[in-house]
Amino acid sequence: MTVAIGCDHGGFPLKRHIVATLENLGHEILDVGCYSEESVDYPHYATAVCQAILDGNAHRGILICGTGIGMSIAANRYPSIRAALCHEAFTAKMSREHNDANVLCLGARVLGVGIALDIVTTWLAAHFAGGRHLRRIELIG
Ligand code: RB5
Repeated sequence: MTVAIGCDHGGFPLKRHIVATLENLGHEILDVGCYSEESVDYPHYATAVCQAILDGNAHRGILICGTGIGMSIAANRYPSIRAALCHEAFTAKMSREHNDANVLCLGARVLGVGIALDIVTTWLAAHFAGGRHLRRIELIG
């Protein structure tokens, strides 16, 4: 699948590891920046990733900032975007199965690289369960 990925300066060191993992898994990557640890404003990158999904240019998105909180707040402002801030693989899996999360948010200053890559691979492999969960998502709008 095509995965749009974006980060701010706090997320940049982790993004490089995630991009390498996505490449190894055979995914297409749409990297919207940023591209260094120079200070930037995370909402711009949340917008770029969400817009890529809404325009049909990416199936899923990954957003990384220092805590993942700013990115998740920003991404969830967009209709049809369901952004899940995850700190371990179980909630990442459930965010796909029960919430059909189309954006994964990560905190680079919270997670070690190994945990972050476990979250990413688990999240990408998990499938939406549908059924009663679809009804609940539709209630969100
Ligand atoms: C940047 O210092 C930091 O505020 C940002 O990466 C993120 O953690 C915001 O939620």
